[in-house]
Amino acid sequence: MSVRKLKEGVYEVGAVDWDREIFDELIPLPDGTSYNAYLIQGSEKVALLDTVDPTKESVLMRNLESLDIDHIDYVISHHAEQDHSGSIPAILERFPDAKVVTNAKCKGMLIDHLHIPEGKFTEVEDGSEISLGDKTLRFVLTPWVHWPETMCTYLPEMKIIFTCDFFGSHLATSDLFVRDKRKTYLAAKRYYAEIMMPFRRLIKGHLKKLDELEFDIIATSHGPIYDEPEFIIDAYKDWVSDEVKNEVIVPYVSMHGSTEVMVNHLVDTLMEKGIKVTPYNLTTTNLGELAMSTVDASTIVLGTPTVLTGPHPKAFYAAYLVNALRPKTKYVSLIGSYGWGGRMPEMIKDTLKNLDAKMIDPVIVKGLPSQEDLKEIERLAEDIMEA
Ligand code: FEO
Repeated sequence: MSVRKLKEGVYEVGAVDWDREIFDELIPLPDGTSYNAYLIQGSEKVALLDTVDPTKESVLMRNLESLDIDHIDYVISHHAEQDHSGSIPAILERFPDAKVVTNAKCKGMLIDHLHIPEGKFTEVEDGSEISLGDKTLRFVLTPWVHWPETMCTYLPEMKIIFTCDFFGSHLATSDLFVRDKRKTYLAAKRYYAEIMMPFRRLIKGHLKKLDELEFDIIATSHGPIYDEPEFIIDAYKDWVSDEVKNEVIVPYVSMHGSTEVMVNHLVDTLMEKGIKVTPYNLTTTNLGELAMSTVDASTIVLGTPTVLTGPHPKAFYAAYLVNALRPKTKYVSLIGSYGWGGRMPEMIKDTLKNLDAKMIDPVIVKGLPSQEDLKEIERLAEDIMEA
C-alpha cells in the first residue's frame, strides 16, 4: 500500500507490480511495471482516474481507504485494456453512485470486456469538461495510443496531464517522479518500441495537440511520473520523426554455422567501415531488446537458414514482429544458407510488407559460404554503406 501526493488534492493511488515478468503473454518485463491510478479531490466532487490490474485490486482499495474516501463521483477510464480498467467493476461495487466517464468507443469496449452496465456511463467527447468544483477535468482524445479508444485528461488548474499508456514505461520503482533518467529513458524507449511504434504517424499529431496545452507534469499509468515533461516529449519527437540513425541490426539464427559465418563476416566488414552494427542471436535475444533496437536503426539485415523450405521459425517470428511494429527503417536485406532449395527469401519478403523500406539485394548461399559468397557479403556491406 502506498499513497503519494503529486499536488494538493491529487494523489497516486495505484500499485507497483515488482514481480510481473510478462505482459500480454508476449512482452518481457525485465523491470516489472506499475499501474498508476490517480485520485483527484475537488471542492465539490471526487474523481478516480483509471484503476489497476485486477491482480492488484486490493492495493487500490486499501489506498483509497487510507485516504478515508467514502464516495467517488467519477471514474475516468482513459483506456479499456484491463491493466487499467480491470478493477472498475470492483470500484463500482464499493462506490455504487460513481459514474464511469469515458468516450463512446471506450464505453463500448468496457461493456464488451467487463460487462459494465450501460446506465453506469457518462459519455464525453474531445474537449468536454467536467467540474470537480475548484478543479476541472478536460478530456483530450488521443486515439491509437495504442487502442482506438485511448484518451488523456488535462487538469488545467494544476497543469497536469494524465496520459495513461501514452509516454509510459514498464518500470517498477519507488520513485514517484523520474529520478533515474537513463533507466527511465531506456524503459520508455522499450515501451514505445513494443507498444506505440506501429502508431508513429498518429502520435506525431497527438504531440502537436499536446503542444497547445500548458503542463508541468505528465502523469502516465505505467512507470514514474514526468516532472520535466520535455524529457519524454523530446524523446518521443525523436522516436516518431522520420530521421534514422546510421545503425545496422542483424537479427539472425544459425543451425549448423553457415548463416553465422555470413553474419560474422557482415558484422566485421561493417565494423571495419566504421558503421555501427549489432547482431542479435534470436535463440537467446530478448524480444524487447530487439524491438527497441528497431526504433532508430536505418537498416535491418535478417539472417536465417532454410528449414523445411522456409525460414527458420525464429527468424520468421522476428520478421513477423518487425513487420507488425512498423519501424521507420529505410533499408532491409536478407542473408542465409540453404541445403537443397526452398522459398525462404520470398516468404521473408512477403512477411515484411508493412515496412516502407527498400530491399537491398540479399545474399543467399548453398551450404557453407565460399570465398566468393563472402565477397557477396562485402558487396552487401558496401551497398549498406552507400545507402
Ligand atoms: Fe497499460 Fe494498454 O494498457
